[in-house]
Amino acid sequence: MSHEDQTFIRTAGIVLAALVAITIMALVLASFVGGNDGDADPMVIAKADEWIAPVGERLSAEPSAASETMPTMAHEPVKAITAAEPMEVDGAKVTQTYCFACHGTGVPGSPQIGDSADWAGRIAQGIDTLYDSAINGKTSSTGVMPPKGGMMNLSDEQVKAAVDYMVSQAQ
Ligand code: HEC
Repeated sequence: MSHEDQTFIRTAGIVLAALVAITIMALVLASFVGGNDGDADPMVIAKADEWIAPVGERLSAEPSAASETMPTMAHEPVKAITAAEPMEVDGAKVTQTYCFACHGTGVPGSPQIGDSADWAGRIAQGIDTLYDSAINGKTSSTGVMPPKGGMMNLSDEQVKAAVDYMVSQAQ
């Protein structure tokens, strides 16, 4: 047996011993973790039951409450929309949210909010023309105003309110 063979065998022995040791440690650890599961702190279990209970109780107690709420909710949407409308037909808000991307950031060709010089000629066309441009769009050699600024879900009223706001900012 050469010297190299002896070294190899010794190294292999050490590696094997290490593997066995690791395996034993893994087994011990596994049994420790598993065993811990079995005897979980009764206080923790009691607490967990306490946390879960309200949800369970609510779910089982709710059906009556829910069925009382449902008919009311069925009537509600109409009311909800009317209630939300005044806020949504807020020219400043619509402008900030949907029109600012072009009219507030200097997108070429778009009259900037507050740029009286650019707006003067447009306002001279009359408010109805501006409404029409905003709602149906306007294309000229200098730029494209997409219908409703590309936000087709906006109502005509919302767009008009935004135009009113832009016009007010130009005076
Ligand atoms: C994608 C960019 C863009 C968005 C978004 C946009 N606009 Fe415009 N808008 C333009 C451009 C460009 C023009 C200039 C068009 C022209 O004069 O040919 C313009 C012009 C206008 C004009 C003047 C029209 C006229 O007849 O001179 C109004 C009013 C207007 N926009 C309102 C709005 C409103 C209200 C919104 C938001 C609901 C909006 N725009 C969103 C690009 C945009």
